[in-house]
Amino acid sequence: MDWGLQNRLARIIRPATGRTVMLAVDHGYFLGPTSRLEDPRETIAPLVSYADALMPTRGVLRTSVDPKTQTPIVLRVSGGTSIIGPSLADEEITTTFEEAIRMNVSAVALSIFVGTEYEHQTLMNLADLVNEGETYGIPVLAVTAVGKELGKRDARFLSLSCRIAAELGAHFVKTYYCEDFEKVVGGCPVPVVIAGGPKLDTMKDVLQLTHDAISRGAVGVDMGRNIWQSDHPVAAIQAVRAIVHEKYTVKKALDLFEGLKGKRK
Ligand code: R5P
Repeated sequence: MDWGLQNRLARIIRPATGRTVMLAVDHGYFLGPTSRLEDPRETIAPLVSYADALMPTRGVLRTSVDPKTQTPIVLRVSGGTSIIGPSLADEEITTTFEEAIRMNVSAVALSIFVGTEYEHQTLMNLADLVNEGETYGIPVLAVTAVGKELGKRDARFLSLSCRIAAELGAHFVKTYYCEDFEKVVGGCPVPVVIAGGPKLDTMKDVLQLTHDAISRGAVGVDMGRNIWQSDHPVAAIQAVRAIVHEKYTVKKALDLFEGLKGKRK
């Protein structure tokens, strides 16, 4: 791996722990003004300094993120679909590498849709992005998307998707946590982070998910709704961090959350 690429990846996956807490705020690229992300600047500002990396689109980065931020950017560069359109899988690359470099990003991210009619198109998007990423020393994060078919989140499907992403050269992969998650990680030769998915019922569920994923081999989370849809997002991200970076148990992290949530929204 080229020096620049390794250096950028080390900004995201912290060398001190080998782990990362990424904050996903890219949902609007197909969902529009998602609940509690209606005003991205307001959502992002109190949280960004607690994240090891922030994952926005270029539109949200330019309009809603302070350019003085020290938090590395993982830029979402695929899209072109919407939640009301015919298929979420019909994505293309929306943002050039020149743009990504201009915005000083630490990595770029795209979705792949294995098993759909757009499998070939989205896998070639990944291959093309890796070719450019290798040229410029910018890592590529592949997101194993399931679109509206949340039921596809099982070890068989996610192992297949993650492995294909790694084989095509993705430098790290984002997927969902599932039963037998160690099989997903075991078959994927690059680091794996998990998405949080739709909001869970309780903070304990979020922390349990984080703990399970880390203890079964994930290097971290790229979490969105379960942090910023919380009534106490700043406390939520700190509790998640404590599990990811400081090996907190679920109980200890929940105690931390309870203690912090009274201090600040
Ligand atoms: C989905 O394709 C987006 O990349 C989201 O950023 C991702 O699903 C992570 O967010 P959440 O934790 O809300 O699922």
